Parts: sequence; C-alpha cells; structure tokens
Amino acid sequence: METCQLIQPWEEPEKHINRRIKVHEDLFLVGTIEDKIVGTVMGRCDENRGWVEYLAVHPLFRRKGIGRQLVNIIEEKLSKKGCSGMVLLIQQENSDATDFYRRIGYHTKSVTYLEKRLRERRLKPRRLLRGLRFKVK
Ligand SMILES: CC(C)(COP(=O)(O)OP(=O)(O)OC[C@H]1O[C@@H](n2cnc3c(N)ncnc32)[C@H](O)[C@@H]1OP(=O)(O)O)[C@@H](O)C(=O)NCCC(=O)NCCS
Repeated sequence: METCQLIQPWEEPEKHINRRIKVHEDLFLVGTIEDKIVGTVMGRCDENRGWVEYLAVHPLFRRKGIGRQLVNIIEEKLSKKGCSGMVLLIQQENSDATDFYRRIGYHTKSVTYLEKRLRERRLKPRRLLRGLRFKVK
C-alpha cells in the first residue's frame, strides 16, 4: 500500500486492517502471483451499503485486469451479505483511480466530505444547556 501511495501520514492501516480482519476476514483479499503480492482490497458492509477500501495493484501489474477482478469479487461478497450498492472515497486529485472506477461502472456523486481528527488536541468541555442530558438507549 505504501508503494501505491494509498496511506496518509496520520493513518494506521495495520491497526485498521487487523481490527477488520477479526470481524470479516473474508472481506480482505490479497492477490498473488508466484507468492508475490500484486494487489489488495478490503470491503466493508455498512447497513446495505458496500464500501471498497485499500484497493491497490502493484505498479508493475497494472492494466492487466487485476483491479477489476478484486473489486468484482468484493462486490459479489458484499452483495451476498445484503448490500444493494457500492460506495467509495478517493482523493479528488487521484484521476487515475477515478478513471478506473468509471471504466468498471462507478459514477461520481457530488458530496462534501468533512473531516476532523480527534487525537490531536483535547476537546474543550463546553457549557451545556441547563437540564440537558444525553442517554444511551
Ligand atoms: C486504480 C488501480 C487499482 C487500477 O488497477 P488495475 O489493475 O490497473 O486496473 P484494471 O487493469 O483492472 O483496469 C480496469 C479498467 O480500467 C481501466 N483503467 C485502469 N487504470 C486506468 C487509468 N489510470 N486511466 C484510465 N483507465 C484505467 C483499464 O484500461 C480497464 O479498462 P478496460 O476493461 O476497458 O480495458 C491501480 O491503478 C492502483 O493501484 N492505483 C494506485 C492505488 C489507488 O489509487 N487505489 C484506489 C484508491 S482507493
């Protein structure tokens, strides 16, 4: 994944992937040719929406249909788990990935993606409205 520049400096993919493998081992695929890793993908079922994550094909093995096959397998697995559609996020500047996904049937939806990182600073407690309580049901 580092070779494919999929990781942001603040991300901890090992933790993320290990946690996910414990829950859905079948949704983490590694493609190999003669014991060499040539591609990876991870799927996630979020209610009835299927997510594709960490899709990467080794640069030497691109444009040979590996990416398409990895996504197709994940789509099939997620469909069997009850997902009715697929979604994914890619960096806006990653036009290669956008072109790839368009070729395999995905289309762009215009949404605003907002992000906030929580570990950097402590959240300042705010004064709550008098009498306001939050319960966990
Ligand atoms: C995006 C990526 C996974 C594509 O993998 P791949 O194995 O090369 O893709 P495939 O060979 O299966 O291509 C499937 C189709 O997409 C097209 N395609 C693939 N890469 C393309 C590109 N950069 N530009 C235009 N079309 C592209 C192929 O020509 C093929 O079309 P066809 O079936 O009509 O011939 C690979 O380029 C990659 O690992 N990129 C870096 C990581 C990344 O950006 N991941 C996605 C972010 S989550």
